[in-house]
Amino acid sequence: PLTTTGGLVAEAAAHRGAVAAFNVITLEHIEAVVAAAEAVGAPVVLQVSENAVKFRTGRLHPIAAAAVSAAHASAVPVALHLDHVKDEALLREAADCGFSSVMFDAAHLPYRENVAATRRAADWAHANGLWLEAELGEVGGKDGRGPLDAHAPGARTEPGEARRFVEETGADALAVAVGSSHAMTSRDAVLDHALLAALHDRLQVPMVLHGSSGVPDDELRRAVLGGISKVNIGTALSIAMTGAIRAHLDADPEGVDPRRYLAAGRRAVTEAVVQLLGTVAAV
Ligand code: G3H
Ligand code: ZN
Repeated sequence: PLTTTGGLVAEAAAHRGAVAAFNVITLEHIEAVVAAAEAVGAPVVLQVSENAVKFRTGRLHPIAAAAVSAAHASAVPVALHLDHVKDEALLREAADCGFSSVMFDAAHLPYRENVAATRRAADWAHANGLWLEAELGEVGGKDGRGPLDAHAPGARTEPGEARRFVEETGADALAVAVGSSHAMTSRDAVLDHALLAALHDRLQVPMVLHGSSGVPDDELRRAVLGGISKVNIGTALSIAMTGAIRAHLDADPEGVDPRRYLAAGRRAVTEAVVQLLGTVAAV
């Protein structure tokens, strides 16, 4: 059934667990993530990023309709989340599409401007029944800027500032920069667990880990035990899908039916999600 992100995160946080949120780009991603969640028996968040909406010719409705339909038909609870939104108009579309939550990303702005923009987005979201995630500090690797910039010291989230930020914006959850980075294709990120503990101490809302594809299993488990309640995963699915499709096409250079290689890609995504849920949802 379709459920809410806020509900899943609150439930996970109450047990010192986490809900996994997977970025979906195609219908095959949606089918694969839901099949894996059903196989494991874990709830899941399907999230669509603003970049994915741009890829989907700028319209959220078609992929949102597919995700809503898959959620309704699912044997496990599935929530829908709009990820990394900078365009405030897209927030409005999400509310019309069955999404229960949005991540408003103004982390690239100086502190005061991040607060002002996030406050505006949170007020609008709350007036329209949406749960809002925000970001302070900056998890690097967005917009192809390379996976390493999150490791720059200035990018980390400072606990005192984070507490103030949540008070000033009214955000329901906070994406924290603690050493992970977007779009990593190797799993060797090292998290700052002392910083995570300090953030967990000071923060009054659940914390979200971005760029989780680059975080090894044992680090992910520690992060969940340390207070991360939502784990965002995208690139790991791209690696699985693209690798399987490439292998399929290499092995069958004469084939033309897209269903053959899309099925191979979808199977690989299901396997990757089963594995990741085994790590994240089992803590
Ligand atoms: O918001 C999405 C996540 O942060 C995904 O990051 O693609 O590096 O796993 P990732
Ligand atoms: Zn992210």
